[in-house]
Amino acid sequence: MADQPTSQPPKKLYIETVGCQMNVLDSELVVARLRDDGYELTQDIDQADAILYNTCSVRQHAEDKVYSALGRIKHLKRKKPDLAVGVLGCMAQKDQNLILRRAPHVDVVVGPGQLGRVPELLAKAKADAAPQLAVSLARNAGSRSHVTSSFDSYDADREPAVRPSPFQAYLRVMMGCDKFCTYCIVPSVRGPEQSRPPAEILAEARLLALQGVKEITLIGQTVNSYKHKAPDGRITRLSDLLAGLHDIDGVERIKFITSFPNDMTDDLLQAVRDLPKVSRYIHVPAQSGCDLVLKRMKRMYTASFYEDMLARLRETIPGASVSSDFIVGFCGETDESFEKTVGLVERSRFKNSFIFKYSPRTGTKADDLYPDDVPEEVKRHRNHVLLDLQMRISLEDNQAFVGREETVLVEGPSRTTTRKEGWDGPDQLTGRTHCDRIVVFSGPESLTGQFARVKIQTASAVTLFGRLAAVPDAGAACPG
Ligand code: 5AD
Ligand code: SF4
Repeated sequence: MADQPTSQPPKKLYIETVGCQMNVLDSELVVARLRDDGYELTQDIDQADAILYNTCSVRQHAEDKVYSALGRIKHLKRKKPDLAVGVLGCMAQKDQNLILRRAPHVDVVVGPGQLGRVPELLAKAKADAAPQLAVSLARNAGSRSHVTSSFDSYDADREPAVRPSPFQAYLRVMMGCDKFCTYCIVPSVRGPEQSRPPAEILAEARLLALQGVKEITLIGQTVNSYKHKAPDGRITRLSDLLAGLHDIDGVERIKFITSFPNDMTDDLLQAVRDLPKVSRYIHVPAQSGCDLVLKRMKRMYTASFYEDMLARLRETIPGASVSSDFIVGFCGETDESFEKTVGLVERSRFKNSFIFKYSPRTGTKADDLYPDDVPEEVKRHRNHVLLDLQMRISLEDNQAFVGREETVLVEGPSRTTTRKEGWDGPDQLTGRTHCDRIVVFSGPESLTGQFARVKIQTASAVTLFGRLAAVPDAGAACPG
C-alpha cells in the first residue's frame, strides 16, 4: 500500500454493490486499487469523497435501484462539487452514454473489463473536469452489441477489508460466458468465456490462505466449463483445479458456483466425492422444466437430460445438496409449460431455488425475437407457487437434520431475521454446514472463523437451529 503524505487526510470511499458474487469480488478489487491511491472505506455516504455503484444488468429491477440511488445523491454533489460519482460494472458496459445522459452528475462510467483503471479515471475526471467513460470494445450485430475484447486481469490485488468475512473469499476462475442463453445479457456485457491459467489461480489461493482465508468459493458464470489449455497443450479441468487447491494448507473448504447442466462431467463429480475439503453442494440452474421453453431459452438441454444429470450427480456424491435457478413467465410459457416446471421442482428436491420473473433485456435475442407475452400478475403468481413449493421441500429436507450433529464453519453473529423464524436464544451465531445449510446456535463470538460441532434441534425451511456440541480441530472434515 502506498504511503500517505502526512499533510493530506485520506480520501473517503463509499461503495455499493448490486448483483452477483462476481460483482462482490470486483468491488473488492476496486477497493484494493483505490486504497493504494489513498482512499479509505466509509459506510457513511455523507462523508464520502467518492461514491461508486457497482451495478448489475441481469434484471430491470437491479438497474432501477441504481438510478434511484443516483437520484438520491444529486444533492450531495451540489453541496460538495469535488465529490466523485462512479457507475461501474455491467450497467456501465451496457448503457454507457445513456447513464451520463440520465445522471449528468456521474463522473466515471467503467465497464467490468476496465475496473483496474478506476483510480486513473477518477483522477482524470477531476483534472479535466469532464466525465470519463471506459468500456470494453463491442461488436454490433443488428440491435445487439457484444463485448469482444479480453479483460485485464487484476485479481491478485486482494483486499480483506471488503470481503463478506475475513476468512471467506471468492476466487475467479473464469471470466465471461459463451452460452448466450436468449434471455441473458451477461455474455454481451462480460465478454467471451476465458479460463484463467491454473498457476495464477493457485497462487491467488495461496495468498488468500496466508491472509487467513479458510473457505474459498471459485466463481465463474459457468464454472464447471472451466478448461485451460497451456502452450504445451496440457489441459486443466475444474476437477484438476480442485485437486490442486485441496493441497493448500490453511484452505479448509472449497465451493464452486455456478455450474451449467451440460458440463457436469464425471471427473468433476468424482472430485467432489473424493476431496473432503470440497463442499458437497452444487448450484446448477435448470431455469425451466419445459422443453419448449428450454429450447426458446437456448439452454441446449431437455428437462429429462437435466433430471438424468441430477440422478448421476446424486448417485456419485451421496448426500449432495443441489440448488437451482428458475425463470418464470418467460416468453411463450403457458400454464402447461409452467406445470412441467412445477413437476421438475417436485421431483428434484433442491436444497433451495432462486426464482425470478422474466425481465426482458434490450440487446438479448429473446427481446429481439419473442414478445414478453406473460402478464405481470401471472409471472407473480407463478413465482409464488414455485417458491411455496420449494419452501415446503426445503422444510421437509431440513427437518431430516434434526437430531444430527453437523460441522459448522462459524461466520459470526446472526442477523435478526432468524429471530422471526422462532429462535430467541442468547448470543446467536450463524454458520454453514459443508453442504451449505445455514445453522444458527448459541455460542461466544470468539468462535467466528472456526469450525464447531452443532447438534441440530429444530429447523425452518431456510435455517437449522441447534446447540453447540464441541469445537473440533480446525480443518476436521465435515461428514456432510
Ligand atoms: N430475467 C429474469 N431472470 C434472469 N436471469 C438471467 N437473466 C434473466 C432475465 N432476463 C436469472 C437466471 C440466472 C440468474 C443469475 O438470473 O435464472 O441463472
Ligand atoms: Fe447467462 Fe446462460 Fe451464461 Fe448463465 S449460462 S451467464 S444464464 S448466458
